[in-house]
Amino acid sequence: MKSLTICAAVFPLLFGGCALHPLGPLDKAPDHQAAHLKGYAPFAWGISTSSLQYENKAVSPENPEYYVRDWDLLVQQKKAPIVGNALYSWSDWNKDLAALKKIGVTHYRFSIEWARVEPSPGKYNEKAVLGYVRMCRKLREAGIEPVVTLWHFTFPAWLTDPKDSSKTNWLNPQARNHWNLYVSKMVKATAPYVNFYAPENEPNGQVLTAYIIGLWPPCHIFDFKGYEAATIASADMFRDAAARIKEVKPSAKVLSVEALPWWEPAPLDPGGLLYNTVMHSNFDHLDRVYDVCDIIGFNYYYSQMAGPLSLLSEGMKHGPNFTMMGWRIDPKGLGKQIRYVGKRYDKPMMITENGIATKNEQKRLSYLRDHIAQIRMAMDDGYDVKGYFVWSLADNYEWHYGYVPKFGLATMDPKTKARILKPAAYYYRDVIRTSNRLQQVSPNP
Ligand code: BGC
Repeated sequence: MKSLTICAAVFPLLFGGCALHPLGPLDKAPDHQAAHLKGYAPFAWGISTSSLQYENKAVSPENPEYYVRDWDLLVQQKKAPIVGNALYSWSDWNKDLAALKKIGVTHYRFSIEWARVEPSPGKYNEKAVLGYVRMCRKLREAGIEPVVTLWHFTFPAWLTDPKDSSKTNWLNPQARNHWNLYVSKMVKATAPYVNFYAPENEPNGQVLTAYIIGLWPPCHIFDFKGYEAATIASADMFRDAAARIKEVKPSAKVLSVEALPWWEPAPLDPGGLLYNTVMHSNFDHLDRVYDVCDIIGFNYYYSQMAGPLSLLSEGMKHGPNFTMMGWRIDPKGLGKQIRYVGKRYDKPMMITENGIATKNEQKRLSYLRDHIAQIRMAMDDGYDVKGYFVWSLADNYEWHYGYVPKFGLATMDPKTKARILKPAAYYYRDVIRTSNRLQQVSPNP
């Protein structure tokens, strides 16, 4: 997703002659001192997944469990690879749980599929609601904190307006009302077992991919008006969700999950246009919601120069310093981002996703080790990092790239559906054990 994100930001500047963000640089970060924020415990050692990328679903419209997501429409239009049964995480979720227990995570972030719960407007599938409640209960029984994401990129297909795509998803006039009802329902149902809710996963990346790059529904290209409107709508809906969560369970923690690659200014960027553009894409949504977040969560995978050459070749680079996605491996970028976010918002932070697509297991292990080491260094400098989540439990469906990229700490045995742990899973298990024993983040167990 990210590579395409970048090109999109570049084209209007190079060829359209207009800046994506005529607003210029971001407002100056508030001059906070994060130095007073310290401490290890409690630290969340987690793994993140999402519903569409893991769960199987009913195939026949006759099945009472049947539902359709906007992504299914995209697959039908042959604009995205077939999802199929993904990792069978609906019918065989106990396999996920078994792997999580083996690894010894303290937290598990997964998402609820809105369409599964509300297959048509106002009609809820109570069996599906109970299925998610059961997952939360089982996790808790296993001593694992569920971290529930209420939206991870996909919408019920009934929020797609086939006649007027400008009224699709976030911008559908029905969306906000139904979202509030859906959020209330799911939070009420899961609250006995859940202390952490993330209303949205990477809304900043999704809106860019949907309105500028044109790859995700409603597939608009360079639709700056739509981009801005969807950013505002998604932020408003985030704030609504945060309010619902606090109403139902005031002690629950609200978590943002934003896509925050680290951007370096580049020499070939007159007036800093590209740099300002990508910084806006990183922070415009978060700036609108940070005050209702207890924890600033963000996903970090790579760093990049905000210059035309680097942006245009995004995703095409290979070699020891790049992942299968062509993303530059830069653990120090994570350290810089923690410091930037810590100063900008002055709140506790969690790295809600970090991981690598690779078939080289040694490379995966080094990637994790080097990023975890950066967290430790930032914490030693006084930054309040409260958790780290690996993306992802097993090799899964990676949106436009289908099943090719390998992000998993495990693979799935196609016959038994068991998750077979890779070496990095055992490394991560040992990091968790050692860190908890020493009461400090320990990249070298
Ligand atoms: C998303 C995941 C995705 C991962 C790797 C994030 O953008 O939250 O759904 O699979 O990064 O690209």
